[in-house]
Amino acid sequence: MNRIGVLTSGGDAPGMNAAIRAAVRNGIASGMKVFGIERGYEGLIDGDIYEMDVKSVADIIHRGGTMLQTARSERFMTKEGLDKAVMMAQSFGLDSLVIIGGNGSLTGALTLAERGIHVECLPGTIDNDLGYTDRTIGFDTAVNTVLGAVSNIRDTSSSHERTTIIEVMGRHCGDIALYTGLAGGAESVLVPEIPFDINAICVKIIQGRNRGKKHNIIIKAEGVEIDSFELAKTIQERTGVESKVVVLGYLQRGGSPTAEDRLFASRAGFKAVELIKDGIYDRAIGLAGNELVHYPLADALKIPTKAATEYLDIIDVLS
Ligand code: F6P
Repeated sequence: MNRIGVLTSGGDAPGMNAAIRAAVRNGIASGMKVFGIERGYEGLIDGDIYEMDVKSVADIIHRGGTMLQTARSERFMTKEGLDKAVMMAQSFGLDSLVIIGGNGSLTGALTLAERGIHVECLPGTIDNDLGYTDRTIGFDTAVNTVLGAVSNIRDTSSSHERTTIIEVMGRHCGDIALYTGLAGGAESVLVPEIPFDINAICVKIIQGRNRGKKHNIIIKAEGVEIDSFELAKTIQERTGVESKVVVLGYLQRGGSPTAEDRLFASRAGFKAVELIKDGIYDRAIGLAGNELVHYPLADALKIPTKAATEYLDIIDVLS
């Protein structure tokens, strides 16, 4: 009988619970013993591993966060930590691990695979920064959460005739900013992938003013290398328009997952177990359009991320 472990690692993302539920329930339905590993690779190193049953994952499909807890494990990056993680997986008799996390977590999974521990990986991160999949679990929810905030902030921005810079997550990938900028009708979007011109932003603000525009929304990904408060100060000095900053921070990581995230997570969690049953190991599961796909993990991690920077032209014309 297969014994499998499930863990979530890195930043939490809405939909992780739906993925855990799917892997646990399909594992048990397939006659496997399923173990939950707490706090990602930290729990693997420490042996914080417990057997789960169908009830362990009851009432979690609609909850954000992760019921297994998560962590960014520095110990796992060391040889000692990795050795211990491998030893723990072996001592619990775990044949395969279902690993749900972002880029760093999946890279960690590859080091386990190289040490002979089978892994099946699901992309769990709000950042949408894994090149092998069209979507990551949690991205759609984060976009919708940010969009709600953008709409609220527009009201105040219009009422006070201000410019507001909304800083969103995305250290290396501008997708949250690009999607919410287009869907939220922002005037400008700043992303780490494309250098920006502060003068062009100011010209846009003045032109907007001249045609009676009351608000000005700038969405800036956190990875853009200028401090948001500095940027607001410069814009205010150059345009004479009062400029404020809202940093959305962790607000955009939590919350009940959208249907899209729950569907993808449920399908991917289910698939991870199917792959184990079929003896197809060390795969990265993703979406291509609405098709569930899976690739060898090592190959998947080599595919570069491509943010939707083509949205910038549309945003510029439409705003
Ligand atoms: O990787 C997801 C993410 O939300 C990034 O967008 C953000 O930069 C980072 O996590 C923040 O991580 P932490 O929880 O460690 O502060």
